[in-house]
Amino acid sequence: MNFVGSHILSIDQFERKDIDRLFSVAINMEPYAKRQRITKVLDGAILSNMFFEPSTRTRVSFGCAFNLLGGEVRETTGIENSALAKGESLYDTARVLSGYSDVIVMRHPQSGSVAEFASASRVPVINGGDGANEHPTQALLDLYTIRRELQGRGKELDGLRIGMIGDLKHGRTVHSLAKLLCNYQNIEIYLVSPAALKMPEDLVDLLVEAGHKVVITESLESSIAHVDIVYSTRIQEERFGSQEEADLYRGRFRLNQAVYTQYCEPNTVIMHPLPRDSRAEANELDSDLNQNPNLAIFRQTDNGVVVRMALFALTLDIVDAVDKNSQPVRWYTGGRR
Ligand code: NCD
Repeated sequence: MNFVGSHILSIDQFERKDIDRLFSVAINMEPYAKRQRITKVLDGAILSNMFFEPSTRTRVSFGCAFNLLGGEVRETTGIENSALAKGESLYDTARVLSGYSDVIVMRHPQSGSVAEFASASRVPVINGGDGANEHPTQALLDLYTIRRELQGRGKELDGLRIGMIGDLKHGRTVHSLAKLLCNYQNIEIYLVSPAALKMPEDLVDLLVEAGHKVVITESLESSIAHVDIVYSTRIQEERFGSQEEADLYRGRFRLNQAVYTQYCEPNTVIMHPLPRDSRAEANELDSDLNQNPNLAIFRQTDNGVVVRMALFALTLDIVDAVDKNSQPVRWYTGGRR
């Protein structure tokens, strides 16, 4: 794929060589994310960060990534605070915002909305999550994390064994991650969900066509016993018809330290796109795992910054200019990482 000037809307756009390229640029971003160096390469550039659904880490990490490259960020959060609430079309919003910005990140509750918006935009648009459809940058940072965690264990992405657990029907992160894994070989993937919240058929078909071993199950214990990565997810309650319906499934699959010790192989990596639902009735990933060194959830969030910096660098064609416009950091950095 040619990153320069491209919209980033779906994992369908990525081949294995594109993922390799992105990850090698992301590694070069580490000194900037760790506040060892600063760069001003995007001095004068403006990101419009448009989040029409709740977000903490995706919105802030996109903003931080752009700031760390020297650019400025303008934001809107919530449909109710934007002209969309006055009946403005995605087309008009896109035409307006692309007149103000050099790149746009957008999250919106409707599947396909970011692609519709992008078709009217004059600048690159990055999908920050469109309804239950896709969340490509989350999948990319997840895969970057998986690769790093496996490297520390002497393993590769080819041959990965992973369990995806929870609301696989509505979870856009697992949809994008499943597509991304189709670029690799001999994956074993356990899809653990209530029967009503199964991974969509078309995505299961893609995994099977890629030659992967796919196990669809409702048994958490038997699945987490055989994997390198446990990828837990939240019941996406905002996508259900009613709270009562969502409540039927909350708390169904809970991973805590006792379950981990009893069933998982030693050093199984625990991941989650976050937010984990820490309310007692849900609690899919217990806080008693916080001291477990295999809990990678905050390494995932850290990795989100470098992966998003790399995407900006590739789409805005500044990869080689980043280091040329850099200097060491001169303030106290708190001894980060
Ligand atoms: C996810 C999302 O918004 O899809 N969050 C995130 O961006 N890290 C997952 C979720 O909300 O459960």
